[in-house]
Amino acid sequence: MKNIAVIGAGYVGLVLAACLSELGENVICVDKDKRKLEKLKKCKVHFYEQELSELIKKNMKDKKLEFSECTDYAVRKSEIIYIAVGTPSKDDGSVELKFVYDAITDIANSMNGYKIIVNKSTVPVGTGTKLKETIKKRLKERGKKYEFDVVSNPEFLREGSAVYDFMNPDRIVIGTNSERARKVIRAVYNAFDNKKVPFIFTNNESAELIKYTSNCFLAMKIAYINEIANLCEKVGANIQHVANGIGKDHRINSKYLQPGPGFGGSCFPKDNLALVRIAKEYGEEVSIVDQVIKSNEKQKLRMILKITNIMGKNLVDKKIAILGLTFKPNTSDMRESSSLVIIPKLIDCGAYIQVFDPEGIDEAKKYFNGLEHSIKYCGDEFEAVSGVDAVIILTEWEKFRNLDLELLRKNMKGQYFFDLRNVYERDQVEKCDFSYIGVGK
Ligand code: UDX
Repeated sequence: MKNIAVIGAGYVGLVLAACLSELGENVICVDKDKRKLEKLKKCKVHFYEQELSELIKKNMKDKKLEFSECTDYAVRKSEIIYIAVGTPSKDDGSVELKFVYDAITDIANSMNGYKIIVNKSTVPVGTGTKLKETIKKRLKERGKKYEFDVVSNPEFLREGSAVYDFMNPDRIVIGTNSERARKVIRAVYNAFDNKKVPFIFTNNESAELIKYTSNCFLAMKIAYINEIANLCEKVGANIQHVANGIGKDHRINSKYLQPGPGFGGSCFPKDNLALVRIAKEYGEEVSIVDQVIKSNEKQKLRMILKITNIMGKNLVDKKIAILGLTFKPNTSDMRESSSLVIIPKLIDCGAYIQVFDPEGIDEAKKYFNGLEHSIKYCGDEFEAVSGVDAVIILTEWEKFRNLDLELLRKNMKGQYFFDLRNVYERDQVEKCDFSYIGVGK
């Protein structure tokens, strides 16, 4: 059993802290946000993530997980300190590292012996080395000669299934030049040995680049299939058959080949921008990634065209139901969600919008502040479709996969069914007197 500190109680930090304590470690999770901590101390998580609350409750009760606002206390008590703070995009696409440097300074101020600092935050290549220099400098100022190592250990968690992903990793990347740190961090993940999880031991720079390369590759797959879907509509092909046909080639594989209204979330958009920026700093070009960003922006706008081509550019006196607001199902996260582009544009065209999302309404209200006169937040899908001219599935929540289509149609005024996640088959929907519009078919 090891004593571990996790700095940051956001999506990544909380999942990490909860899962490490579940693996048997003693974990102190630190955050500076007092309101967040107050809630966490009462086992209340400030966002929706499957299984997370239960795991936190269980491990707090077993005294393996505690929350604190005091980095000093957590650092002194722990040999391993994970950094899991936010690294948002700045306006120019570069990565804001302020929170990482704040954390590293706090750590260096409190070090009282050998520490392994493990970075989980997504940071530009070379940051690990810079963090080492920052700690060295601060220790020198303090007149201390403590040894320490910095390890880059990127996370690959998907929101909505983050606990499952942590417990069932495809691989674990450990980036460090220190044999001592490598052994200790490898041992943290001993619990995965029976699952035969591959370990990638490398240096800090490669580990940092693995994270970006992985996320940008997945985003590229989505942008590619979206563009092929658009072509399918023109040539009379069906994207589901095309995706199935290419996905069966194990060199390609079928994951991340679902066309839709463009990818969103806290990672793909930000990491694409960051990789372009990192390459530029080193005088290189990752022009494919640059194109992925542009393609994804176009895809969101293309969804508006899809709607206005059928319903007309003037949507005054038209009511539209939107089912799903979050950037993907099983999360309350709205960051970079296509709904943030599509809904205001429909309102600009004059439409009145009735929305329902199983978990995202509270978050959505913050983003659509000022648009209250054109948006009605509804308690379920039937209230949302009441009297509307069209319904749009924007996020493929499980409950939208089994809609009572006949009842839905009865509640609606018009017949348009925009299935922007290709949840349904055309025949199934048109049988219920709808006009079906999917993506790429
Ligand atoms: C992603 C990475 O998957 C994860 O490894 C990393 O740690 C963080 O970023 P996340 O953003 O939680 O995870 O969601 P993900 O499930 O990957 O989906 C991202 C976006 O792509 C969503 O908007 C989703 O709707 C979209 N998507 C995904 C598609 O449009 N089509 C697909 O086939 C897959």
